[in-house]
Amino acid sequence: MPSYFATAIAHPNIAFIKYWGDVDPDLHIPANGSISMNLRELFSRTSVSFDPSLEQDQFILDGRQINDTGLVRVSNLLDRVRKMAGINTFASVESHNNFPTGTGIASSASGFAALSVAASKAAGLDFDEKALSRLARTGSGSACRSIPSGFVEWQAGGNDEGSYAFSIVPPEHWDLVDCIALVSQDEKPTSSSEGHSLAKTSLLQPARVADAPRRLALCRKAIHTRDFAALAQVVELDSNLMHAVMITSKPPLLYWQPATVTIMQAVQYWREGGLMVCYSVDAGPNVHVLCSRVVSGDVADRLEKLSGVQKVLVAHPGGPADLENE
Ligand code: DP6
Repeated sequence: MPSYFATAIAHPNIAFIKYWGDVDPDLHIPANGSISMNLRELFSRTSVSFDPSLEQDQFILDGRQINDTGLVRVSNLLDRVRKMAGINTFASVESHNNFPTGTGIASSASGFAALSVAASKAAGLDFDEKALSRLARTGSGSACRSIPSGFVEWQAGGNDEGSYAFSIVPPEHWDLVDCIALVSQDEKPTSSSEGHSLAKTSLLQPARVADAPRRLALCRKAIHTRDFAALAQVVELDSNLMHAVMITSKPPLLYWQPATVTIMQAVQYWREGGLMVCYSVDAGPNVHVLCSRVVSGDVADRLEKLSGVQKVLVAHPGGPADLENE
């Protein structure tokens, strides 16, 4: 084994067209393709050390030793790496997020992307982007989109070999900004993994999935042509469709809080007044407000003044997951 230790950094991503529902929950093969943008200012930094003296894997997240399902998910990914590298050494994993974990800002995406890059390197594997994206997907679906750079598409693929993400355009292509309005920093009560398994209980999910190719095409085109009005329309529709599925699942999932709705309504009102803004909400109460760079200061100021908004994080299009110092 050429190296035993490696550290990697990866950014979370905001999905413009969302992944919700799996055809294979173990391998995280999604029901539909998705498109996202990496978030430059936010990151997970993850170190992996394969250590022959360990009797089991260890996982420390933001200074806390994790022993529950978090450790199981990390160990499962390490098992895949060990199998491919032909080793059986346990590892110590230490990860830090510079943003709040588990609040709908996909910390599992950046965390598993960074883990995949660091673990494969530390195990001596020389993976290309596609192999890293497939590996990251097995840890958390959306993590496969945090491997490539900039604006990224995850092709559903239908199986392990064909389900991975690639870059559509680099981060410099479009100076979009994501102003993330935080209304809560608590851990969400229902994880995305549980949510994905409930998606099929909503009678709206088949319609959402059937229409996904059309929304993906609209989103791709809006990105290529930097057409904000077209992007806004498809991004809000896609977010609303996912939440319609969530609230009509059995049991229903309602991630919104009153402040979430306040922000969504304000954003629509601002857009009617001519401001280039739109919203997207993941599996949590916080609201991602996308806008062009010229208005981002104004948008962040307006969001901070809304009732229930605790803080606004501002992120620009980000690069790929990468080893530190390389
Ligand atoms: C609402 O990728 O977090 O953010 O694969 O179970 O880890 P697991 O789920 P995850 O789901 C993301 C759901 C979403 C939409 C998206 O990012 O596409």
